[in-house]
Amino acid sequence: MKVGIFGSGRVGQTIGSKLATLGHEVMLGTRDPAKLTDWLAQTGGKARVGSIAETAAFGEILINATKGSASLSVLAQAGESNLEGKILIDLANVLGNPPDDATILVVANTDSLAEQIQRAHPQVKVVKACNTIGVGVIVDPRRLADGEHVMFICGNEAEAKAQVTELLTSWFGWRHIIDLGDLTKARATEMYIVIWITLLRKFGTPLFNINIVR
Ligand SMILES: NC(=O)c1ccc[n+]([C@@H]2O[C@H](COP(=O)([O-])OP(=O)(O)OC[C@H]3O[C@@H](n4cnc5c(N)ncnc54)[C@H](OP(=O)(O)O)[C@@H]3O)[C@@H](O)[C@H]2O)c1
Repeated sequence: MKVGIFGSGRVGQTIGSKLATLGHEVMLGTRDPAKLTDWLAQTGGKARVGSIAETAAFGEILINATKGSASLSVLAQAGESNLEGKILIDLANVLGNPPDDATILVVANTDSLAEQIQRAHPQVKVVKACNTIGVGVIVDPRRLADGEHVMFICGNEAEAKAQVTELLTSWFGWRHIIDLGDLTKARATEMYIVIWITLLRKFGTPLFNINIVR
């Protein structure tokens, strides 16, 4: 499968490497392809790098792994015809700048980044997922409690959510993906990042997640 990933930070590179290892065709969309020479070499030529528009055109499925405060301006460069009808897995969070205001939510309560993206690009099927979990766990859930912990997903299209659930299961081995409902539920998962960062600071590692017992 051709996967286009916007953003070449730790998240974009980690997910890109994992998908390339699994045999998928991956393109990372970046402002600066030159800085990814080492990453490209590490993928053994299985991945490529492009502009945001090239990545949008390349991907059969798209992933937003950009800094949340930049996501809207980055996606504005994608080209509407390149996005049309595609699923965009949005795993970004919008926070202030670390260290002091890294737990300040820039969008919250009555709106979310995922909804802003959906409004800006109504032809894309935005599915919010993965944003409550550190990337080392996203790509390898079984490194914690043999995978017995949860990921949340939400979005307006049932079929798109089902497809993303299937992909996260087959790509990374996720077993417990909870569909919270429509995209307004992204307000909850984006606001969760405040406790995630609080736990990160307490434990000193991003290798943790939550489970739900009822
Ligand atoms: N770290 C985690 O474990 C984790 C887990 C779940 C979700 N997330 C979310 O995933 C996203 C990516 O996180 P990250 O840690 O990989 O890196 P990040 O520091 O949030 O940046 C990711 C990428 O965003 C792009 N970017 C940043 N500022 C920009 C600007 N002003 N204009 C245009 N593009 C800009 C850059 O891509 P280029 O330089 O390539 O253009 C950068 O590599 C974030 O929204 C984060 O909240 C992170």
